[in-house]
Amino acid sequence: MGGRMFAGVYCGCCEMRASTDGILLCMTTPDWIAGLLSGHALSKKHGSIFTLWFANTPVVVISGYRALKETMIGMGNEFSGRENYPLIMKITNGYGVLVSSGERWKQLRRFTLLTLKNFGMGRHTIEDKVKEEASCLVQSFSTFGDSAFNPGIIINKAVCSVICSIIFGQRFESDDPQLNLMLGAVDDYFNVLNSPLGQAYNIFPKIVGLFPGRLHDMLSEVEKAKGLFKLEAEARMKTLDPSSPPKDFIEAFLLQMEEEKHNPNTEFTFNNLLCTTWAMFSAGTETTSSTIRQSLLLMMKHPDIQARVQKEIDKVVGQDRYPSIDDRQNMPYTDAVIHEVQRSMDLAPTAVPHKMLYDTEYRNYLIPKGTMVLPLLSSVLSDPKLWKNPDNFDPENFLDEKGRFKKSDAFVVFGMGKRACLGEALARVELFIIFTSLLQRFTFRATQPPEEIDTTPTNCSFGRLPRFYECYAVHRT
Ligand code: HEM
Repeated sequence: MGGRMFAGVYCGCCEMRASTDGILLCMTTPDWIAGLLSGHALSKKHGSIFTLWFANTPVVVISGYRALKETMIGMGNEFSGRENYPLIMKITNGYGVLVSSGERWKQLRRFTLLTLKNFGMGRHTIEDKVKEEASCLVQSFSTFGDSAFNPGIIINKAVCSVICSIIFGQRFESDDPQLNLMLGAVDDYFNVLNSPLGQAYNIFPKIVGLFPGRLHDMLSEVEKAKGLFKLEAEARMKTLDPSSPPKDFIEAFLLQMEEEKHNPNTEFTFNNLLCTTWAMFSAGTETTSSTIRQSLLLMMKHPDIQARVQKEIDKVVGQDRYPSIDDRQNMPYTDAVIHEVQRSMDLAPTAVPHKMLYDTEYRNYLIPKGTMVLPLLSSVLSDPKLWKNPDNFDPENFLDEKGRFKKSDAFVVFGMGKRACLGEALARVELFIIFTSLLQRFTFRATQPPEEIDTTPTNCSFGRLPRFYECYAVHRT
């Protein structure tokens, strides 16, 4: 195999040229990468494949549509491992669909996708659940009357409730202590992951782990949430009936465990059940609810676009029924707005870090097995060659000259290839139904004039999240 070991070597913090033998250059962590890469200055300068050094760890960055397609799709077997930070390992021990690689991941991914499909992901069954949550959300928003409020936590609960209905087969009231426990754990988890404490843990796990405090509080909250999944699983085990179809995700997993109980290599174990369930909560709640929050913020910033969406809702759906997913094909403008919210927000600029599963040669570079790889999705989402107006929020990016919705292969917000988001179909239904149901009933106004609203998301370790805001939900008459 020819080629050099790593492509163009630069220090992640200060961009100084690093030595190839891994000298400790900077005391930073991969969590800074999203911020560092967000302007694409590095990829513009160093091309579509280059290496950053974080302390003594090389990280290969792939950018641009062509290179990402060639690697994530064309060489999916090599590029589909998952890099794990110490903090994530501490919580999962490498179990579950989000963090595993190889055979474990293949089995869990196949099973999870199939089960989500069986429970109606992308079909009407899930749509009914989302509609139910959307109508509760509309009721909650109504209770604020003329007062400004922070919609974040209410949206979070609605989105989390949809996942609960898949995992537990039941919805939770918004004040249910179990729902609050799970949401609190996800919240704490991301807060610590984003904090200097979490970053320090990712560099010096043994030392930082010795200190009591916030880290251990979070770990115990996550354990409590996993304990809840465990209790639910144990309760189902007592009444498990292989002759009847499973009622929820946990039951489906337990049935598969039962079926494979004599297989010594089975991946259908209790640990994989708890961590796959945790993965769906942690990956499926904040992502979707942040996108909905950002969509409302953008509507307040652009009242003309909000009015145009409402006009389309009034024409196609009216006020007498809730929107349904079948309406989407008749609502090209609204569809374009939702896609544009996602494109411009660029929620996961570097996806979730990948890892090389084999020594691999790509474009004359040898990338060794085990190297961390970052797919720079944001380089595609902001490429001026691929979008009419990439630097602004502009629904025209998804419309053709006749005002029809225009699909684009460059819409890579859910990732590309084998490790792409497995909740995409669910997220799309949630975004459409919740966004249109809210705009059908309310006009959103900010507490400051539109020109003063800052819609740029804030960078954090796992992505770009909307800024905190309060809003008025004005009833449409
Ligand atoms: C707007 C909403 C969402 C966005 C933008 C989003 C985006 C992403 C991205 C970029 C990845 C990583 C792809 C990669 O590593 O290459 C991912 C992975 C994942 N997402 Fe989502 N996601 C969303 C909603 C959801 C939902 C609702 C679920 C719940 C089922 C979910 C579950 C997952 C899981 C389990 C993975 C890991 C897949 C694997 O490692 O094989 N996501 N998502």
